[in-house]
Amino acid sequence: MLELLRVGVLASGRGSNLEAILKACRRGEIKAEVVIVLSDNPEARALKIAREYGIKALYLDPAAYPSRQAYDLAMAGELEAAGVELVALAGFMRLLSPAFLERFPQRVINIHPALLPAFPGLNAQRQAWEYGVKFSGCTVHFVDAGVDTGPIIAQAVVPVLPDDTPETLAERILAEEHRLYPQVIGWLAEGRVKLEGRRTMVINR
Ligand code: GRF
Repeated sequence: MLELLRVGVLASGRGSNLEAILKACRRGEIKAEVVIVLSDNPEARALKIAREYGIKALYLDPAAYPSRQAYDLAMAGELEAAGVELVALAGFMRLLSPAFLERFPQRVINIHPALLPAFPGLNAQRQAWEYGVKFSGCTVHFVDAGVDTGPIIAQAVVPVLPDDTPETLAERILAEEHRLYPQVIGWLAEGRVKLEGRRTMVINR
């Protein structure tokens, strides 16, 4: 039997990265399966996509918990109950508390639409465009308690073209996100990502 890495996805919105991951899993391109999707937004398209793929999809209401940590621990409980081995954030709009991260050491990853450490936080594509950089892109990184500060696993570079608007740049970056995120999950599923301090290495097989 082929062992698949059990992935839990946290998403707040559109869910296009979730969809790219689900497609890669379904096509058998990566040795992973999404077993649960959690959202803090009942309207998230990500929940709808997950259900279309027959995957357990839960909305957890942050207002129903007394603290950020209580909410995060409720999410951790759901993920653990689903046997999740890797947590992938895909447009999840909340900062995770240390108590959550301790439950999944080096097992939480995120995708960010800029070349970190440049332009962390919200609206990264617009930040890069306004700054006037000639290249931007996307970054997949391990998550720590900071905002987009964890060790970088992989990046893809996207040129900023003279006629770009923040929207056209974001669109081309998104296409790279949809390629890079499933690829990195595939590497993790094969145990090919090694972490030494802040530096990661991808081992060739
Ligand atoms: C992506 O641009 C991702 O890099 C950022 O949030 C956005 C999520 O988009 N973290 P989607 O929900 O995956 O379509």
